[in-house]
Amino acid sequence: MEHRHVTLSRTPTVLIVLLVVVLAVVVLVTQWSDRDEGDWHSIPQDLAGAGSTTSAPASAPAETQPATQTSQPWLPPRFTQRQGDRDRMARVIGVYGLKDKAILQAMAAVPRHEFVPASLQRSAYRDSPLPIGFGQTISQPYIVAEMTRQLQLKPTSRVLEIGTGSGYQAAVLTELTPHVYTIEIIKPLADAAAKRLKRLGYTTVRTKHGDGYHGWPDAGPFDAIIVTAAAGQIPPPLLRQLAPGGRMIIPIGGRFATQSLMLVEKRADGKVRSRSLMAVRFVPFVRKDVSAD
Ligand SMILES: C[S@@+](CC[C@H](N)C(=O)[O-])C[C@H]1O[C@@H](n2cnc3c(N)ncnc32)[C@H](O)[C@@H]1O
Repeated sequence: MEHRHVTLSRTPTVLIVLLVVVLAVVVLVTQWSDRDEGDWHSIPQDLAGAGSTTSAPASAPAETQPATQTSQPWLPPRFTQRQGDRDRMARVIGVYGLKDKAILQAMAAVPRHEFVPASLQRSAYRDSPLPIGFGQTISQPYIVAEMTRQLQLKPTSRVLEIGTGSGYQAAVLTELTPHVYTIEIIKPLADAAAKRLKRLGYTTVRTKHGDGYHGWPDAGPFDAIIVTAAAGQIPPPLLRQLAPGGRMIIPIGGRFATQSLMLVEKRADGKVRSRSLMAVRFVPFVRKDVSAD
């Protein structure tokens, strides 16, 4: 009887200890699951736009290719020429630590040599940026792969690229989803990329010449936005055109400094937060077509 009394009187203490242990486990698990997330910063709601799209501004760029939807099954084109070089390039990217199979397959599929000037074709599969004219570059393959990986694309994702350049990044995106929209501010580059993508068989990519600052309001919201030129700040129209649950990747910083590659996430409730992933060097995000001078 006495023994039973002692057990009962200890029950609340045991319960409290159990509760503390459970709480400690919950806190530890939460911290563990956040361990890769680095330093997030909130972005004000008025800029984030909670997933709504804006109507097209007066200066919105003109579409050069109709945004037609197709119900045809989608298969990206395949190339055999220089496959060995592409496989080696993908292996180098893997050695740098990028292990995502779908991304490495995409990098091994797109014929980068078709996107660089003829005089640079021999260097096309080096892991370095290359000039494409008008002071612009095709980005380093590792950076293309990592930026693409960060978007976490699914075959149904709608993705907007700002800075078409040669069209290479758009082709890599198309390996993962047919719903790719891309805008280039320099007209000769925009025209050449549109022609090149079509010629190579990346026929689902929608291209446009214009200032990507305004995004592509008629085609949004987008599940993913990738900006391939360094901006001083995140253009608010792009934030508004990012769908809830969407991800944006954008280099932020000045033209003469190393920039920060930022990952921006819009949560389902419309809250936006960003964090820096790595230091990068990109050509500047501009607001004027230099080829029009
Ligand atoms: C590093 S290059 C892009 C490389 C490209 N993604 C590729 O795969 O070849 C950056 C591009 O962004 C373009 N750009 C800069 N500011 C822009 C803007 N406001 N709107 C659209 N494109 C812009 C530049 O003209 C340049 O072609």
